Amino acid sequence: MAGFPQGFVWGVAASAYQIEGAAGEGGRVPSVWDTFSHRPGTIADGQTGDVACDHVHRWREDVALLADLGVDAYRLSVSWPRVVTASGAPNPAGLDFYDRLLDALVERGITPVVNLFHWDLPQWLQDQGGWQQRDTAHRFAEYAAIVAARLGDRVGVWAAINEMFEHFVLGHVVGEHAPGLQLPLSDAGTVAHHLLLAHGSAVATLRATGPTPIMAISSYAPARPVSDSPADVAAAAYYDTVQNRLFTDPILLGSYPEEALPLVEPAIREGDMTVIASPVDLWGVNYYTVNAVRAVEGDIPLEVIPPAGLPVTAFGWAIAPDGLTEVLLGLHKRYGDRLPPLMVTENGCAVDDVVDAAGRCEDRERVSFLAAHLDAVQVALDAGVDVRRFYVWSLLDNFEWAAGYTKRFGLVHVDYSTGRRTPKTSFGWLRERIRDSRTASIGQSAR
Ligand code: GCO
Repeated sequence: MAGFPQGFVWGVAASAYQIEGAAGEGGRVPSVWDTFSHRPGTIADGQTGDVACDHVHRWREDVALLADLGVDAYRLSVSWPRVVTASGAPNPAGLDFYDRLLDALVERGITPVVNLFHWDLPQWLQDQGGWQQRDTAHRFAEYAAIVAARLGDRVGVWAAINEMFEHFVLGHVVGEHAPGLQLPLSDAGTVAHHLLLAHGSAVATLRATGPTPIMAISSYAPARPVSDSPADVAAAAYYDTVQNRLFTDPILLGSYPEEALPLVEPAIREGDMTVIASPVDLWGVNYYTVNAVRAVEGDIPLEVIPPAGLPVTAFGWAIAPDGLTEVLLGLHKRYGDRLPPLMVTENGCAVDDVVDAAGRCEDRERVSFLAAHLDAVQVALDAGVDVRRFYVWSLLDNFEWAAGYTKRFGLVHVDYSTGRRTPKTSFGWLRERIRDSRTASIGQSAR
């Protein structure tokens, strides 16, 4: 193993609705997640993001944790409902929060990586049709301009949208995420296209504001048929297309996968594909697991389950580091010179973490998980794939969407009743790993 390249960037990732809290403060208006999480029966523990990790009030402590961890970069998301009013005007109080946060990050030598959308669409836009309305893509570009005007001078890397696939499927097809819609696939296709149009429109807007690199962020998971039956093989191939190519081909190749065209064609207008294919500088890969897919009867003709025979996390997701190597190699092979340098923008696992009587939080499973996935990145690097960054999901335990606070992904344990932060074993392990990587890089440059 040659070791990670000189200048390899280490970071952690988080998202606004999952950590910020202060839901009704500073002029923030409701998002679809406020509406959805307050609807009885939607969240496993009946909780909401009203308080979450109380990051809006504890951000100084969290920046100090990032500095202690020694990361080069912090991937945050800006809350659209916090920085834009229901009339579409900038909300100075909301922007002030991110101003202070980015100043503190830069002061500590931590590069802010700013994602504009992590699923918290303002409810007033959802009331106008949300992502089923083409106009929402234009509102998104206006929001991007507002954020860039105020924060752009301190942003190290921009991202427009996190995981279009998840927001499309979970929020608009299966209904397990906000806005909780179960659209027929023929209607859901317009959501997919408008998300991509929003991505492309924001990239064009951000590109006009300066030289800051821009990336796209998608999740990828190898999709394997449960059996070699033609039905299961076809179901896995279709799921692979929707998760791993539907939101990648249009940006990198300028066209939809052939088999997905019937889903999106009605929404496509002249010039859209050119906007969607606006070039990006980095390609973000969120990786967690591999999936087994089988054909079933019903409106959604397939089911996704963990492959048999693999260990699983506390979330029941299969632990498969080789799947990350497969994804990185697969992107490298499929897109060739159309693929920008890669970065792992999320990787982590749920562990049933507890703080013991001595105040320690031992999460050896998370250390093993992260070590194995870093080794998987090394395999891809050794095979010639250009991977430049690795961000752990996440710094803090946080609101895990429909699972509420029942699933913990943090390097730092959060006691939600007090807000108390307790760095876990994995925090210290990662801090050492980052230091060792830097030392090795210095050794490389010395040679
Ligand atoms: C995602 C989201 C995160 C999740 C994390 C753990 O990838 O689903 O970006 O918001 O919390 O991945 O599920």
